[in-house]
Amino acid sequence: MAVLLISAGENGDEWRRALEGLVPDLDFRVWPDTGEVGDIEMALAWRAPHGELARLPNLRCIASLGQGVDHLFADPDLPEDVTIVRLVDDSMRRQMTVYVLAAVLRRLCRMAGYAELQRAHRWDSLDAYDPAECRVGVLGLGALGGDVAEKLVALGFQVAGWSRTAKDIAGVGCFAGMDALDAFLGDCDMVCCLLSLTPETRGILNARAFAAMKRGAYLINSARGGHVVEADLLAALGTGQVSGATLDVFESEPMPADHPFWDHPKVTITPHASAVTLVRSSAPQIAENYRRLGAGEPLLNTVDRTQQY
Ligand code: NDP
Ligand code: OXD
Repeated sequence: MAVLLISAGENGDEWRRALEGLVPDLDFRVWPDTGEVGDIEMALAWRAPHGELARLPNLRCIASLGQGVDHLFADPDLPEDVTIVRLVDDSMRRQMTVYVLAAVLRRLCRMAGYAELQRAHRWDSLDAYDPAECRVGVLGLGALGGDVAEKLVALGFQVAGWSRTAKDIAGVGCFAGMDALDAFLGDCDMVCCLLSLTPETRGILNARAFAAMKRGAYLINSARGGHVVEADLLAALGTGQVSGATLDVFESEPMPADHPFWDHPKVTITPHASAVTLVRSSAPQIAENYRRLGAGEPLLNTVDRTQQY
C-alpha cells in the first residue's frame, strides 16, 4: 500500500522523514514521481493540481494536509467513493486561538492608536475599555472556533457563536442556522470567521452581512478568503460600517501586489499564516490513519462529503 504526497510546492522531505520514522517499510512517494499508480491507496494532499487524484485507480483515502478541505472539493474530478480525512491538530488549534486573541486584544487595547501616539511623542490616553463590555462573535464553532470562543470567555469577554447545528458551550451565546445569522451579527463588536468554506458559506460576509452588523464592528477572517466579498468589505470600511479588519486569507493567494488591502489604513494583513501545519505535530495522526486503513478500521477525522467539511 503506497502513499503519495501531492502538495504543490513541497518537496516532501520533512513528511518522508516523519512518516518513515512512524511507519516502518513505508512506500512513500512524492508527486509527480508516482511510480506505478495502481499501488497508491492513500494520498496526502494540499492544493493538489486538479485531476491528479483521479489518476489513482486504487485510491481509498485522501488526507488533507490542512484542517480545511475546500481545496479538495474545488477539484471537479475529485474521485467519488474515496474516504476524505482532514487534520484536526492540537498545534493548529493553539496557533489559531493565539492569533485570534492577538487580533482581538490588539484592537481592544488600541495598540494601533498608541503606536501612532508614540511616533508623535504624545502622552495621551485613548478611550478606556473593559473586555466585559465587548461582545465578540465567532462564526464557526468547530475544532478551531470552539476553542477561540472558550478562551475569549476565560478572558472575560461577552462571547457569541454561530454554527450550522445547535451548540451548548458554557458562557457562549450560541446561534445556529441562516435564520439566526443577522441576530448574531447585529449584537457583536467584533466578528471572527472560523467557518469551513462550502457552497453555503462562500461569500457569506457580504454587503448584506456587513449591513446587519453593529455600526463600527471589527472583522477578523482567518478561515478562507472565499468567505468575504472583498469589494463589499472595502465599501463597508469606506463608510465606517466596518471599522477595521485583520485578514489572514484572501480570495486570491498570494494577494496581488496591487490589491487595495495592502495599503488600506484600516486593514491588518498576514499571509495565510494564522495556523500552519507542523509536520512534527500532524504526522502521528496521518500514520494512525494509514494503520487503520490497512487494518480496515474506521478512520480519524473523516469529512462529510455531503456537507463538504
Ligand atoms: P470544523 O469543520 O471543525 O468547523 C467548521 C465550523 O463551521 C463548524 O462549527 C460548522 O458548524 C460551521 N459551519 C459549516 N457550514 C456552516 C453553515 N452553512 N452555517 C453555519 N455554520 C457552518 O473546521 P475547523 O474549526 O477545523 O476549521 C475551520 C476553518 O478554518 C477550516 O475549514 C479552514 O478553512 C480554516 N483554517 C485556516 C487556517 C489558516 O491558517 N488561516 C488554518 C486552519 C484552518 P457545525 O459545528 O454545526 O457543523
Ligand atoms: C488549513 C490551512 O486549512 O492551513 O489547515 O489553511
